[in-house]
Amino acid sequence: MPVTEIKKDIYWVGIVDWNIHDFHGYSKSPQGTTYNAYLVIDDKITLFDSVPAKFQMDLYHQVRSIIPLEKIDYIVCNHIEPDHAGAMPFLMEKIRPEKVFCSKMGHRMLLDHFHQPDWPYHPVQTGDSISLGKRTVQFLETRMLHWPDSMFSYIPEDRLLISNDAFGQNIASSERFDDEIDLAMLMAASSHYYHNIVLPYSQRVTAVLDEVEKLGLQIDMIAPDHGIIWRSNVPLILQAYRDYATQKPNAKAVIVYDTMWHSTEKMAKAIAEGLMEEGVAVKIMHLKQYHHSDVMGELADATGIICGSPTHNNGILPLVADFLTYMKGLRPVGRVGAAFASFGWSGESLNILNDWLKSAKIEVIEPGVKSKNVPDHAKLAECKDLGRQVAMAIKAKVAADA
Ligand code: FEO
Repeated sequence: MPVTEIKKDIYWVGIVDWNIHDFHGYSKSPQGTTYNAYLVIDDKITLFDSVPAKFQMDLYHQVRSIIPLEKIDYIVCNHIEPDHAGAMPFLMEKIRPEKVFCSKMGHRMLLDHFHQPDWPYHPVQTGDSISLGKRTVQFLETRMLHWPDSMFSYIPEDRLLISNDAFGQNIASSERFDDEIDLAMLMAASSHYYHNIVLPYSQRVTAVLDEVEKLGLQIDMIAPDHGIIWRSNVPLILQAYRDYATQKPNAKAVIVYDTMWHSTEKMAKAIAEGLMEEGVAVKIMHLKQYHHSDVMGELADATGIICGSPTHNNGILPLVADFLTYMKGLRPVGRVGAAFASFGWSGESLNILNDWLKSAKIEVIEPGVKSKNVPDHAKLAECKDLGRQVAMAIKAKVAADA
């Protein structure tokens, strides 16, 4: 992918990872991703962030198409996770930069990852700035957005915010800018990314956005480290992050389940009918067909989460346990939920599901519905009624928020 001049003398020198569908081992990335790095040509030539180690030679060729690597004076390491710092040992060897800027936590984490105490670290904190010549770089620590070391770099002369993981998306494309691709697809990818990576840190997102406003940063371009660069829709993505972080109630529910002989599946469909009768949108997701990260993508604008599993070996099916573990870790707030279950003889799964949902801080409408073997008409009517109850609870939340 050719380098792209995103501002005068500022280049995208990143890598497009076209074929990665498994992002960091926990989220699907069906559209691939990019690892964005940025090269600023100034009196002090500066590289912002890098790429995974396996792409270090690709980064070399990107930079080499502009300048010899050894001309780089500074490296700014906004985040230490290996998708952005994996090439650091290679770069340090090739470049031998005068200074490496990172947050204080980043300094510790670089030591923990690469065990190189002699690199020329220059830890910075919020409010610190450096001069590159014609430009300055202001640093803003963004702890837990989404790692303890994360930070932003802001170049006021170019109104450019290099935002690391924040505002990113997993999209591999030949286009670099938000006005070159379909906006609805871009926003959907942004939401999927947020709700699988950033969601647990939503309070930090709000705090960082407040800080950006308080500092009065004039931003006309946001250059994240994954995906597309924002230049025509900066206010849109800033507002979207505020909305994602707020998790406002919405009249929608997601029903997730796994099933053995389709009894639990029949119950899922009946619950959906109850929701629909009350005017609440619903998405049914069989966990054998949908990855847990895609369920979280749907849960982004859903206030209801209803979970079903048959009893299997006195427990729940493995894919349901996988989803519940994943969702709990992402700590969605303000959700209501319920459980449903079929069973043959022992029937523990309903209680297990209720306990899981409560442990994830979902407001659970108990006890849910349990069907011995195949649900009959009366049992399906109970399921439908459960759907209605969840719908009423969702609508109450939406009304209270209006
Ligand atoms: Fe894209 Fe937290 O690394």
